[in-house]
Amino acid sequence: MDVELARLDLPAAAARRTPALLVLVADGFAPGDDALSAWIAKARASGDFKTEAGRLLHSYGAAGLAAERLLLAGVGDGGAAAVRKAVTAAVAALRGGGAAALTLCFAQAPGARAVQAATQALQDASYRYQATRGKAEPPSRLRRATVGVPEVAAARAEFARALGTAQGVTLAREWANRPANHATPALLAGAARALAKHPGIDCQVLGPKEVAKLGMGAFEAVARGSGEELRFIVLRYGGAPKSAAPVVLVGKGITFDTGGISIKPAAAMDEMKFDMCGAASVLGVFRALAELKPAINVVGLVPACENMPDGRAIKPGDVVTSLSGQTIEILNTDAEGRLVLCDALTYAERFKPRAVIDIATLTGACVIALGGVRSGLFASSDALAGALQAAGERALDPCWRLPLDDEYAEGLKTNFADVANVGGRPAGAVTAAKFLQRFAGAFDWAHLDIAGTAWKGGAAKGATGRPVGLLVEYLLGLVEAPAPAAARTPRKPVKGGAKSKTKAKAKA
Ligand code: BES
Ligand code: MN
Ligand code: ZN
Repeated sequence: MDVELARLDLPAAAARRTPALLVLVADGFAPGDDALSAWIAKARASGDFKTEAGRLLHSYGAAGLAAERLLLAGVGDGGAAAVRKAVTAAVAALRGGGAAALTLCFAQAPGARAVQAATQALQDASYRYQATRGKAEPPSRLRRATVGVPEVAAARAEFARALGTAQGVTLAREWANRPANHATPALLAGAARALAKHPGIDCQVLGPKEVAKLGMGAFEAVARGSGEELRFIVLRYGGAPKSAAPVVLVGKGITFDTGGISIKPAAAMDEMKFDMCGAASVLGVFRALAELKPAINVVGLVPACENMPDGRAIKPGDVVTSLSGQTIEILNTDAEGRLVLCDALTYAERFKPRAVIDIATLTGACVIALGGVRSGLFASSDALAGALQAAGERALDPCWRLPLDDEYAEGLKTNFADVANVGGRPAGAVTAAKFLQRFAGAFDWAHLDIAGTAWKGGAAKGATGRPVGLLVEYLLGLVEAPAPAAARTPRKPVKGGAKSKTKAKAKA
């Protein structure tokens, strides 16, 4: 949806010709003497409208208003979370109706981040998956929105940040939603390559030969059982001088997870097309970086492959050698995410990163622990953990830190290799993180387990785009003193990385 920012107070909103006027009303509204204030006061006095977050009152035509439709939406305390809830409900009510455009305004001065929350919610609520749906459903008529604020200058930066982030969230949702036969490793690589059309972004894609030559034995082991070739995607965003150490984002890109020989039960197995949501979130973050152009450097790494059972597939008990040189006994082929991630983490060392964050739909155990509300966070650095937690709160994309005591790694011991890939059922999200930590000793590291938050099941089945909001917020927070606009034009990053020996061939 096209969203613009405009100056609008209540009298101006009352006079505005628009198919639909959405007014966000917080607790303690004090009416002025304009027509809109009169409507709000009347609706509250009658008991038909309450300012509780998410409450709506929809009317068609109202005396003294130029708008065709009026929607009052309660936003409770006026906080960002309440604004998001209200706007989401309002867009759901208007979609499928006749209104082609919507004007949103605040009955009281918007609080911190209210403009961002409203703008992102408009975009999020109007996204519809279409790629494989044919023409069955006509697209919604609601295509345009105006966010009205009392002072445009004060809201401009927040508004731009919201639009950039929303583009990233939408891209992540789109790729995550596509079925596995429409989002193969090669197609994901194509999506990454398309991002490199933006100034400041560069993309390299490695295929099976390059990955074998590098010695990524754990990643290769997972890909063996599939007819789809693996891809290793390296994205680079250069918004700061080359000397500035990058943040490296590593996204799990299992485009379908059958479990392999340790095959999963049939029920809901289709949802394992979402096992590349970590990868999709990395693509989404780069889309947002292309828009927002912050003065930082970021590298994105995506090991992408399918996990399939086959005559050539890895078997329980097989031992493979990872890029780090550590040998791994694969006791359960369904614990494949950590196998592709461990080689990507070792690869990350070459960028001499300031921090490495991996993002993965890693464990069912994390879904049991935290459900769909907060992503699981693990970190080797308290400062990094704190920054990610705070970013999650600000972005309304929260996470919760879980422990990494060494005792949790006991179960990963084996007589046949340096480490086993599973440690038993208790604390499954933690043992998975302990496995990854063995490959993340060379830098500050955090791991986001998004198994519960990256998509929704049931009737609303679909990707959420999380944790793009959290990650973009964290990255923007790294820009301490913004350089003048002219100095912030992103440069094309140099191919090959810090000490890359890889001669990457074009693959897609
Ligand atoms: N992709 C799954 C994790 C998952 C499962 C995410 C269900 C969301 C919903 C991962 O590859 C996996 O299969 N993990 C196993 C690990 C186990 C074998 C130690 C799991 O969680 O069951
Ligand atoms: Mn699995
Ligand atoms: Zn998986």
